[in-house]
Amino acid sequence: MDERKSIKSYVIRKGRMSPAQQTAYRELKQKWVLPYGETLLDFESIFSSPEGVVLEIGFGMGDATHQIASENPGKAYLGVEVHKPGVGKLLDRIEKRGLTNIRIVEHDVCEVLRSMIPPSSLEGIHIFFPDPWPKKKHHKRRLIQEPFLTELAEHLKPGGYLYAATDWDDYAEQMLEVLSTNGLLENRYQDFADPQKWRPLTNFEQKGLKKSHRIHELYFVRK
Ligand SMILES: C[S@@+](CC[C@H](N)C(=O)[O-])C[C@H]1O[C@@H](n2cnc3c(N)ncnc32)[C@H](O)[C@@H]1O
Repeated sequence: MDERKSIKSYVIRKGRMSPAQQTAYRELKQKWVLPYGETLLDFESIFSSPEGVVLEIGFGMGDATHQIASENPGKAYLGVEVHKPGVGKLLDRIEKRGLTNIRIVEHDVCEVLRSMIPPSSLEGIHIFFPDPWPKKKHHKRRLIQEPFLTELAEHLKPGGYLYAATDWDDYAEQMLEVLSTNGLLENRYQDFADPQKWRPLTNFEQKGLKKSHRIHELYFVRK
């Protein structure tokens, strides 16, 4: 067991599962959800020689996950989420769209990263609208901060990317600061990234836009 301190970046949200989510969770979990464990994943055999493996942290309802995966069938997508209805929803989407290049781990990503993901193995990391923890006393629960950020960077291949988006201005500034000062990463852009046209709209992004929040994107690459 790894004794490093983890960020408590989430609370398990209440929320009933819809009948479709329940059915998908019951019937498809065996097929697409990898059990949490302390053994490194063998991506080559799990995904049959993928062109690259992308980790998505906190996929929510899988809005972006299933669309990106269906547009990039040669690549593999590992989605990590603790919200059970979201896992049910993505399972339902995987089956309905006939996708074979997504796997899910239903567990805290801090532990998944340390125990299951080989170092320098990822082509990309997606973090779309991470929980903002807006109160100052809760900023310590934000996911994108050191030392976790360095752990994330160490799991990218050289040239691999970390792509994040948020609708919270002060979190965006904090991300830009910690990402820019991390010695393993370099910014693809001068400052915040241009919007990546291939990123689908997500549920939480929509909520932010309804409140007239600005969207900031960050795109960094491992040196
Ligand atoms: C604000 S939601 C955004 C969901 C989705 N990406 C979107 O844009 O709609 C953040 C998600 O991250 C998940 N999350 C937060 N911390 C996590 C952790 N340590 N491990 C796995 N998932 C986490 C939460 O359960 C939640 O569903």
